Amino acid sequence: MKKILAVALALALTLTAFAACAESKETLTMATNASFPPYEYVEGDQVVGIDPEIAAAVCEKMGYDLEIVDTEFDSLISGVASGKYDFVMAGMTVTEERKQMVSFSDTYATGVQVVIVPEDSAITSVDDLFAEGADNAVGVQQGTTGDICATEDIEDAGFGTVERFKTGTDAVLALTTGKLDCVIIDNEPAKNFVAANEGLTILETPWVEEDYAIGMKKGNTALQSAINEVLSTMTADDYNAMMDDAISVQPLSK
Ligand code: ARG
Repeated sequence: MKKILAVALALALTLTAFAACAESKETLTMATNASFPPYEYVEGDQVVGIDPEIAAAVCEKMGYDLEIVDTEFDSLISGVASGKYDFVMAGMTVTEERKQMVSFSDTYATGVQVVIVPEDSAITSVDDLFAEGADNAVGVQQGTTGDICATEDIEDAGFGTVERFKTGTDAVLALTTGKLDCVIIDNEPAKNFVAANEGLTILETPWVEEDYAIGMKKGNTALQSAINEVLSTMTADDYNAMMDDAISVQPLSK
């Protein structure tokens, strides 16, 4: 009898221990800027898209809960560098400057900077932006590689001015109301914005090709290799399925 009690007690203790474990599962915080469909956008009160899906898969395999913080694009890299967030996933391009501040995972997607113009625009190719006498108002999301490219190649080179917006959505809105001549942004969000708004088109000549990766605190090699491990198991089919899931066109209301 005593023995049975002891076994029952041990079992009960073990179960309690398990329950405690499950409850105290640690959380990884992902920072993003959710105005970038199909990578991340807001649906209801949820941040959804390819990046949240990959992040959820990564966290699940690593045994963490996932929390997503939607904040300004400009503050993502510094927030990860300071340890405020565990990682950033935001269609984030790997650049030399950013590599000084955070460590990146392996690449999980490719992005291309493209130019959105009104359908009746005089700008018909990327070269027109650098033509003699060009003087265009170019919209970008502040702090993005589109901002960096436009600032260096257009504003600093004397081919026009750059207007910096908090979100890509805001930049496209300004384009639809005639305040800009074009918007420079990554290709997949561009397709999404153009599909959601009449009268816009994407120039066929793309600008720069880039790699997207997950950023985390510099030197956090444990997290980095765990993330890379999960990413390496992801097939092109997995990725395309996420893309299909996220392909729903987002109307421009924000
Ligand atoms: N790929 C560009 C960059 O890294 C734009 C990313 C914008 N991402 C976003 N979630 N708003 O600068």
